[in-house]
Amino acid sequence: MTTVAVRLLAALTLSVAARELSAQGALGDRYAVIPRPGVLTPQTGAYTITRNTPIAASPAFASVARRFVRDVANPTGFDFVVRPATASAQGIVLRQVKGLGDEAYRLDVTSNGIVAEASTPAGAFYALETVKQLLPPAIYRDAPIPGTVWSVPAVHIEDAPRFTWRGSHLDVSRHFMPKAFVKKYIDLLARHKLNRFHWHLTEDQGWRIEVKKYPRLTEVSSCRPQTLVGSHTDDPAKQLFDGTPHCGFYTQDDVREVVAYAAERMITVVPEIEMPGHVQAAVYAYPFLASTTDSIPGLRTIWGVSKYILNPSDSSVAFMQDVLNEVLTLFPSPWIHIGGDEAVKDQWKASPQIQARIKSLGLKDEHEMQSWFIKQMDTFLTARGRRLIGWDEILEGGLAPNATVMSWRGMDGGIAAAKEGHDVVMAPGSHTYFDHYQSRDKKSEPLAIGGFTPIDTVYSFEPVPPSLTPDEAKHILGAQAQLWTEYIPNPQQLEYMAYPRLVALCEALWSRKDRRDFGDFMTRLPVHLKRLDALDVNYRKLDRAKVTP
Ligand code: ACM
Repeated sequence: MTTVAVRLLAALTLSVAARELSAQGALGDRYAVIPRPGVLTPQTGAYTITRNTPIAASPAFASVARRFVRDVANPTGFDFVVRPATASAQGIVLRQVKGLGDEAYRLDVTSNGIVAEASTPAGAFYALETVKQLLPPAIYRDAPIPGTVWSVPAVHIEDAPRFTWRGSHLDVSRHFMPKAFVKKYIDLLARHKLNRFHWHLTEDQGWRIEVKKYPRLTEVSSCRPQTLVGSHTDDPAKQLFDGTPHCGFYTQDDVREVVAYAAERMITVVPEIEMPGHVQAAVYAYPFLASTTDSIPGLRTIWGVSKYILNPSDSSVAFMQDVLNEVLTLFPSPWIHIGGDEAVKDQWKASPQIQARIKSLGLKDEHEMQSWFIKQMDTFLTARGRRLIGWDEILEGGLAPNATVMSWRGMDGGIAAAKEGHDVVMAPGSHTYFDHYQSRDKKSEPLAIGGFTPIDTVYSFEPVPPSLTPDEAKHILGAQAQLWTEYIPNPQQLEYMAYPRLVALCEALWSRKDRRDFGDFMTRLPVHLKRLDALDVNYRKLDRAKVTP
């Protein structure tokens, strides 16, 4: 065929496809894939999955295929068996090929069947998540809806993520979130092709992970007697408390279960153990860790920042390394988060013993003291094949050699770290703090910490600052959402704050810059919200979420 003939045929095929589309609703309805794939070419026709559809997978993808079969068993009522992907395999075929990126996939749906190609299990997993999004939203339910036809529109997709770190953080310390909900939260991340779950496990207000060597961390410090009601105030005369204990922690077996659940969904769980600040729960359980000889009143029952900070003694270093030792047995993550933010240095300034330690170690000031402490953890983790990650305050007083920086006070910390050759995860308050309000009209919303971060702001987030050279920009691993829970007391409220903003963020982190278009996103979002309805997610409704209220 001549080139002209090929072009004519292509135009004809597309116009047939376009007519079929207009008969079936807008493109956004038929191909409402979020995050938006790199290439999505509509084709004519569809493939219908029935109970007789064969499913075949290359050996490396058998477990991903089985996960899909388990996921779709309840909504379809079909009991598929995964078979080897022979050359003549039909139906849904998952084939391992060489040369695609780590998380990339190709997907072809024709009236004859579905073929997904990837080089890695993650790529195959994401191909199948896309297939689910091409099916009716009822695929996300737990029982068959009578009359549903499992039709997948014909399409050619080529897809790969822009960033390797696409995540969400979750603070389970201010308010404890039950294990079952943590798993639901992780499952939702996976459905948005997010791959990092940053689990904020320790705080002034509660310690949430069992440590066998130091049982008092959970025996004593996982339960606070009461919690402040309403907005934070430092003025005791204005503080009102609920009088209700708030308790909870994860046993090591719970943690193993969550980590395995996440791994099945291609998600790395990055644990955070805060130091040297945000440690009131730790020093209450083990007062030898404190930088003060005053008695410690208990866990913090208000918000804000606690004055308690670890004593930078050898015994505190040993204690925290013992804790990390147990953490390492539970979490295979290459990164271990050690916090490092908002460590108030007043107790170090007031302590003659700690001032003497600063001098004897040849350090200039309290910032260098903090850096020294973090470096002990960096050396410890590096020797065990892991990488330390911390909030951007770890830049103050000098970065530890192998540290990755999580930039939350804007992008500047991340820019400085990238220029020094360190890896960076962007987490700026301006775009990724989902404890902020979703409306300018704060009174119309549940109490939040402050701010205003609507979905279009989130969508517009660009993790790579223009001031970085291409080589420096390679250090920007990606970004993540922050869900701090001072004002988020339960899972329902958490979902309200997280969704649909996380839907917008997933596209900002997965899709290439030239594929990002807020208007196009908004045509796909209504279908996606039907999926979240089926999944029982308490997202903030769009009619409330006027883009610029
Ligand atoms: C932070 O928000 N303190 C990291």
